Amino acid sequence: MTDPAPGASEELVLAFLAEAGDEVVSGEAISDKLGLTRAAVWKHVEGLRAQGYRIDAVASRGYRLVEIPDRLRALEIRPLLATHDLGQVLHCHEELGSTSDRAKQLAEGGAGHGEVVVAERQTAGRGRRGRSWSSAAGQGVSFSVILRPEALPPARAPELTLVAAVAICDALRQAGVEAGIKWPNDLLAGGRKIAGILTEMAAEADRVQWVVIGVGVNVNSRREDFPEPLREEATSVLLERGQPAPRALLLAACLTLLEDWVDLHAEQGFEPIRAAWRERSVTLGQRVAVRTDGGELVGVAEEIDATGALLVRTAAGLERVLAGDVALLRPRR
Ligand code: BTN
Repeated sequence: MTDPAPGASEELVLAFLAEAGDEVVSGEAISDKLGLTRAAVWKHVEGLRAQGYRIDAVASRGYRLVEIPDRLRALEIRPLLATHDLGQVLHCHEELGSTSDRAKQLAEGGAGHGEVVVAERQTAGRGRRGRSWSSAAGQGVSFSVILRPEALPPARAPELTLVAAVAICDALRQAGVEAGIKWPNDLLAGGRKIAGILTEMAAEADRVQWVVIGVGVNVNSRREDFPEPLREEATSVLLERGQPAPRALLLAACLTLLEDWVDLHAEQGFEPIRAAWRERSVTLGQRVAVRTDGGELVGVAEEIDATGALLVRTAAGLERVLAGDVALLRPRR
């Protein structure tokens, strides 16, 4: 029996324990399955404990993973992923300007479909329409995914923005948050913003080179952690469900669900995404004010069309909005 490189086998032991969930797994089972000596299994369990994992030893039965440290490194994320592409290559950083800037550099340098950039802290996080995105260390999940959709014409690439919104909405719901989508891809809970998505791409005339989907989720922020102007507008998983969430678990759920929806989009086109988006929408049927590059329009958000554009019924007729900022207005009495 040989013992592979310590980092790799430590990760395998962790993955094995994580997969077992609440079950106790015997040292013998781990050793047989991973081809490690019993001494190596014990050494890796000790190594994981030293890094903050709580692993109980249950007398004469084996080990149980009780708690993982709230960090966003490959060691924490990889065992939780159920993906074939997304996150299989992970670039994890303590601090970056922006994960999307780094992902774009990597994409330009030839990085493959599904590579993911994660940062504990961003110093220059970017939002839609030139805004900044604030993400304090240890409180949120900030990541960017490189996609290389093979057969998607550039004109249809914006559909991926709505694909991402559906996936992140589902990840938040899985975490126990009643999230909904405000067009095109803001995630709200209790009327406040809990996550944002920034989609960027590079294309030639007939081919998408890459799409970078940048996602920021407010996870364990308390109200006082948000900068003053955002306190009334923003919320977090902690604030919505009353208890903190393990960030690696939420990130893994985001990537797993994003992959499922991206694959469905590649196989069946936009229609199932449109239906899923409509079901999760908090915009449709509401009176809205939409700020676009051409000015503001007010009306009722009636529908999203087959391209993902928002159709707003205004006093002047039905307007089709391709890009803009939506504010939900209180219904008129
Ligand atoms: C928005 O709501 O305006 C979009 C916010 C997107 C923020 C994320 S955080 C990870 C990625 N890196 C960035 O610089 N921005 C996105």
